[in-house]
Amino acid sequence: MEEQQKSSHVVLVTVTFQGHINAALQLATILHSKGFSITIVHLELNSPNPSNYPEFTFVSIPDNLTESQLSDKDIPGLVRRVNKNCAAPLQQCLEKILHSHHHISAVIYDSFMFCAQPIVDDLGLPGVTLCTHSALGLLFYHVFPQLNEKDCISGLESPELQALQLQGFHALSSQNPTEAGMEVGAAFANALKSSSAIIVNSMEFLELEVLSKIKQYLPTPIFIVGPLHKLAPTMCNSLCTEDNKCISWLNKQSPKSVIYVSFGSIVNIDKQELIETAWGLSNSKQPFLWVARPSMDRGSEWTESLLNGLEERVGERGFIVKWAPQKEVLAHAAVGGFWSHCGWNSTIESICEGVPMICRPFFGDQILNASYICNVWKIGLELQNLERGNIERTIKRLMVDMEGNYIRKRAMDLKEKAAFYLMEDGSTSGSFDGLAKHISSV
Ligand code: UDX
Repeated sequence: MEEQQKSSHVVLVTVTFQGHINAALQLATILHSKGFSITIVHLELNSPNPSNYPEFTFVSIPDNLTESQLSDKDIPGLVRRVNKNCAAPLQQCLEKILHSHHHISAVIYDSFMFCAQPIVDDLGLPGVTLCTHSALGLLFYHVFPQLNEKDCISGLESPELQALQLQGFHALSSQNPTEAGMEVGAAFANALKSSSAIIVNSMEFLELEVLSKIKQYLPTPIFIVGPLHKLAPTMCNSLCTEDNKCISWLNKQSPKSVIYVSFGSIVNIDKQELIETAWGLSNSKQPFLWVARPSMDRGSEWTESLLNGLEERVGERGFIVKWAPQKEVLAHAAVGGFWSHCGWNSTIESICEGVPMICRPFFGDQILNASYICNVWKIGLELQNLERGNIERTIKRLMVDMEGNYIRKRAMDLKEKAAFYLMEDGSTSGSFDGLAKHISSV
């Protein structure tokens, strides 16, 4: 099989967000190690650094997007725009690759880039969807909308998941999706129908019940290939410059004393929440490391003065950076909690290091992930009221109180399971062999 794969060429189409680019490059690294040659098609905005991957070919397509559009709170609207702007350039790009490269074994595209599926159908190429969210996200966004209530709530045995899916079903049926939301949802579902396989960056033991429920309704083969950041750990894919000074600061802190605060790469925080966050951290008296991104409105005079005021108040107890080497931070002995927006990458990175979480989800799959963390795996606390007094109490519950010890113990148990899963013969490596075989045979 190795020999056959040497001549196999995979094109990966990624989208402009950090969490999505990470997953695509990690997957590409593993496929390359299995003998595939790789072309990465990416958007112009937020392009990855090709010099980190000299063995891959990088092709950029025009996206007609501006930096400020990325901060748009209407994510379905943004995804719709991305697909509208990129469909024609992607088609031209794939045609060009086909002419010059003779052969493409498969086009693996980020599920946000669903415009790729009709294009590959047209070109007679197999398309494979890469989900950078959980299998639960797949269930909610792709399977549930096609089902009635009875089908939706049957088939999951654990009461926590039953509650979660009932709650989710009702949320889905009661919410008034925007026009963009409906269009994007339908396009997702259509792409999946003709996709030849689905890849999910997750671990089977985390989502067993959900996976078997999906398989009941979706005939497409699913390959569970995570945790990708552990399987392809060496590359730094950060779009921003990592501030490594925070590691020297962490080295001076006591074990498990620091709360790490980061809201991923897309989320926007409004002024009032920023103020409450700053005061909550200050009043908690816990050491903290806070990622305040430039696109989170850093640079504005107002935000800088809030952050300067916080730094003055807390002195050495706090450290604020624009971007952190997150995986290294989570693995650091001084880190005892992660206050997160619950993006899927952050969630699995935290699980793999046994760090319990405070969950402040903002939109989309982050809400599902927070529910998984707090209600199903029970390794975190949900931050419901974004007021400084409540923030202070929640930090203390996790970092100081007995309750936090129990949560930490469960997080450590899950870390052990993840380590065992990674070592087990046939789990992740089996999924990759299955995927490699699938790509080579379609
Ligand atoms: C987006 C969506 O927000 C999320 O809901 C979806 O699940 C994936 O896509 P993002 O906001 O980028 O994700 O969050 P996340 O998935 O957590 O990915 C962020 C990545 O950036 C992580 O790999 C994290 O390690 C990295 N990161 C973040 C850093 O390296 N440094 C930082 O300072 C912050």
